[in-house]
Amino acid sequence: MKNLWKKSCKIIPGGNTLLSKRPELWLPKKWPSHFISAKGISVTSTENKKYRDFVFAVGTNILGYANKFVDNSVIKAIKNGTMSSLNCYEEYKLAEELLKINKWADMVKFTRGGGEANSLAVRIARAASGKQNVAFCGYHGWHDWYVASNLKDKNSLKDHLMSGISTDGVPLALKKTVHPFMYNDFQYLEKIVSAKKIGTIIMEVKRNFEPTNNFLLKVRQLCDKKKIILIFDECTTGFRANYGGLHQFYKVIPDMVMFGKALGNGYAIAAVLGKKEIMDAAKNSFISSSFWGERVGFVAGLNTLKLMKKIKSWNIIKKTSEYIKQNLRNLATENNINMSISGIPGVPIFAFKSKNNLNYKTLIAQEMMKKKFLASNIIFTSTEHKKKDIDDYFYELSKVFKVIQKCEDGDRIEKYLKNPVVYSGFKRLN
Ligand SMILES: Cc1ncc(COP(=O)(O)O)c(C=O)c1O
Repeated sequence: MKNLWKKSCKIIPGGNTLLSKRPELWLPKKWPSHFISAKGISVTSTENKKYRDFVFAVGTNILGYANKFVDNSVIKAIKNGTMSSLNCYEEYKLAEELLKINKWADMVKFTRGGGEANSLAVRIARAASGKQNVAFCGYHGWHDWYVASNLKDKNSLKDHLMSGISTDGVPLALKKTVHPFMYNDFQYLEKIVSAKKIGTIIMEVKRNFEPTNNFLLKVRQLCDKKKIILIFDECTTGFRANYGGLHQFYKVIPDMVMFGKALGNGYAIAAVLGKKEIMDAAKNSFISSSFWGERVGFVAGLNTLKLMKKIKSWNIIKKTSEYIKQNLRNLATENNINMSISGIPGVPIFAFKSKNNLNYKTLIAQEMMKKKFLASNIIFTSTEHKKKDIDDYFYELSKVFKVIQKCEDGDRIEKYLKNPVVYSGFKRLN
């Protein structure tokens, strides 16, 4: 299986299905592109190299790869058949469990991916509100309704997703239907709500910043006043801070919420929850897909929730990510390096306040890979990242920080880089 990435790029546009799994984003020409097996936090690549993974599939597996409890439940379901002309009863069971966690919600619809769940939620909200215009903040998937934001201004998505997202194939007719706002900028949001006849506000509860000046509460109050449907996209934040959505922590209740990613611990399942009067609109909107009814995702979801609840996984990953953040702070202080440390619970992110930020990110991936770590400036923690793994990781990372310190003091970073620099925005790949 030599040159698999090169070969993939020839027959799969862009090389694969998920942008975040393109090697160019992590370490061009060197990052292993495909895997044979994954267990716990270990990944074995098609070159037969075993790595400890700290990028961690950008957040799909809070309970680690190939979790025995979840996998066994899935295997059992497979043996009983994953498809029939009837619905699998686990669809109802998972809906019931999610409503127990979100007492404010009355109904649930399921999809497989998070982007689909977002698209479905926006469709329902538009149908329920009778208004087509949407205000958004954060990342919400690849669908037309969202990417249309770049039709009016090609930089609209720069601060929510990345720069350079092209609108090829997105109908021009959607141009004025979706309007971005920045997190914590309540005044701007108020302005577009008045000017653009907004019927839906969709946002991530938190990405890199804490809400300031009661931002989330003010958004809620604005929605109540103007009869706007408020949707929280918890596809990434869900189940990392608590058993459910991060909105519970901030005590601000939306009208709809989406969960995805971690919900199935590596199996495809995403959910849209909402209040009855809104979700009822789904009955008049054609929303349907053959494989949304397949059994594996529901079974994985139910058993992921069961195990999360049992071991209180959110406490484990919060503790781990706090330990990681403390280690990062120590490294910054010891080496006198100016950097930011942020991220949602369970997902520490760091960035260098330096013109060399991307070079340093590349250097970290390059050097850590030699020590068999998949590493970057974002760490999706799981319950399987143990103290020893973190300590080993920081033992190696501290050596890279020494080089970064030298470069901040005037040494040339190019001397140390053996690879092209990582990509920072969306680029067409050949
Ligand atoms: C907040 C948020 N919404 C939606 C998505 C899209 O989910 P998916 O990649 O499963 O389509 C993501 C993925 O990163 C996300 O972080």
